[in-house]
Amino acid sequence: MKTTSKIAVFDTTLRDGEQAAGTRLGSRDKITLARQLARLRVDIIEAGFPASSPEDFDAVRKIALEIEGPTICALSRAVASDIEACGRALENAKRPRIHTGIGVSDIHIMGKFKDDKYGKTLAEKKVKMIDQAVEAVKLARSYVDDVQFYAEDAGRSEPLYLYEMLKAVIDAGATVVNIPDTTGYAVPEQYGALIRGICENVPNIARATISVHCHNDLGLAVANSLAGILNGARQVEGTINGIGERAGNAALEEVVMGIRTRADYYTVDTDIEPREFYRTSRMVADMLGMPVPANKAIIGTSAFAHSSGIHVDGFLKDRQTYEIMLPQDVGMLESKVVLTARTGRAGLRSRLEKLGYEISKQELDSVYQRFLAVADKKQEVLDEDLVAIVHDELPPVQQSYKLEYLHSYSGTSAIPTATVRVLVKGKSIEGASTGDGQVDAVYKAIEKVTGASAKLLRYEIRGVTGGAEAQGEVTVHLEAGNLRVMGRGVSTDIIEASAKAYVDGLNRLG
Ligand code: KIV
Ligand code: ZN
Repeated sequence: MKTTSKIAVFDTTLRDGEQAAGTRLGSRDKITLARQLARLRVDIIEAGFPASSPEDFDAVRKIALEIEGPTICALSRAVASDIEACGRALENAKRPRIHTGIGVSDIHIMGKFKDDKYGKTLAEKKVKMIDQAVEAVKLARSYVDDVQFYAEDAGRSEPLYLYEMLKAVIDAGATVVNIPDTTGYAVPEQYGALIRGICENVPNIARATISVHCHNDLGLAVANSLAGILNGARQVEGTINGIGERAGNAALEEVVMGIRTRADYYTVDTDIEPREFYRTSRMVADMLGMPVPANKAIIGTSAFAHSSGIHVDGFLKDRQTYEIMLPQDVGMLESKVVLTARTGRAGLRSRLEKLGYEISKQELDSVYQRFLAVADKKQEVLDEDLVAIVHDELPPVQQSYKLEYLHSYSGTSAIPTATVRVLVKGKSIEGASTGDGQVDAVYKAIEKVTGASAKLLRYEIRGVTGGAEAQGEVTVHLEAGNLRVMGRGVSTDIIEASAKAYVDGLNRLG
């Protein structure tokens, strides 16, 4: 029988996430987000880098004081003053953790520690790095019992050196060893093998938890994190919406829902409350001014939206045909059928039924044609558009007149003129007229061909939905004898909507 191990979720939205270009969170926003991360039930919140600025120090201190559920972690380089700042900022935390570390790849060691004080050759510098890392972990342990060590750029490091470094820091007291793919260079098979290699070659590894921390430069952060978990990591690091340096970090919502949805494959679980994902994602997007793309996995607005005819038809018969998760599981309201020109009759009928319209097949045909005409002009047909179309296409009154054709023109030096063809009691009649304005010309032409007339008491126009391609709705109030009626017309062309409203009013006058 397979057993399910727990994966600890380490959220670094407030530290690595906040390093995204052009973003900055004030301590007030950080605390609000930390509260939300606690509701999401992450195991560890990396609250900041206290030595980096007084504001970050203050944010970490306040989060440590207030947030009770998760472990509160603070970042430092392997430098005494950084570690001391973490120790002070975390003083009031119920469960404090210091995260310290150093570069382990040849590129990092040679590039960042050029000074001879770190050794003259690469070999000498490598020995010095281990000494410095061990000292840092020991110092951090003098402040807190829980110390996480990061082996920066482990994704490009030489494995034998990495094993040696990890053994030394675990002996020095590290409780968690973080294996960052700092530059997002690794690919899943290779990163998985790196984690497997650590499990098999670091003799004291049983005394520490292995953590995966992947960046997304090749779009592989989530895949690499999952590969690491499959190969023995028991902590995963990432950010909400995948925000972070350059192309960002592993998106936690994707990692966690991957684990949950494919529990059959990963046989691990987390304590996350996934119904908080959507809310958390919106908060992060709003506070950092980084909107979530509509097609973003798990929490994008289109993540549970179906549009093409084949998909909508299948989804409406059985949602499992095109959905592997429920939107409610991640805190979204419901799956959405987006009405576009490709939606098809089944999708249209289902939406009409939801809006309360029971219509015959013949009626559906005429509404569908109108729907297509609107959908060709607009990206998405909204419920308001649909209601307007239905009311326009399926009028509740006897149709004595039906507008068949309209042509009108006007201009600064032209007399407004309109030509109309109207079906009058089954017979098409065409006629033209001029008027004071375009609408007046149209109304006079309609009166001419129908032989009906009414006093126009009121004329109103409004956009049914927003945007340049929105439909316009015209409402007219007409009076004839002692009868007063209202007529409505809808079209993406306001002159046509005006003509339809007038014809609708005349029909109601009988
Ligand atoms: O990507 C990285 O290497 C990091 C470390 C500081 C943990 O963010
Ligand atoms: Zn990072």
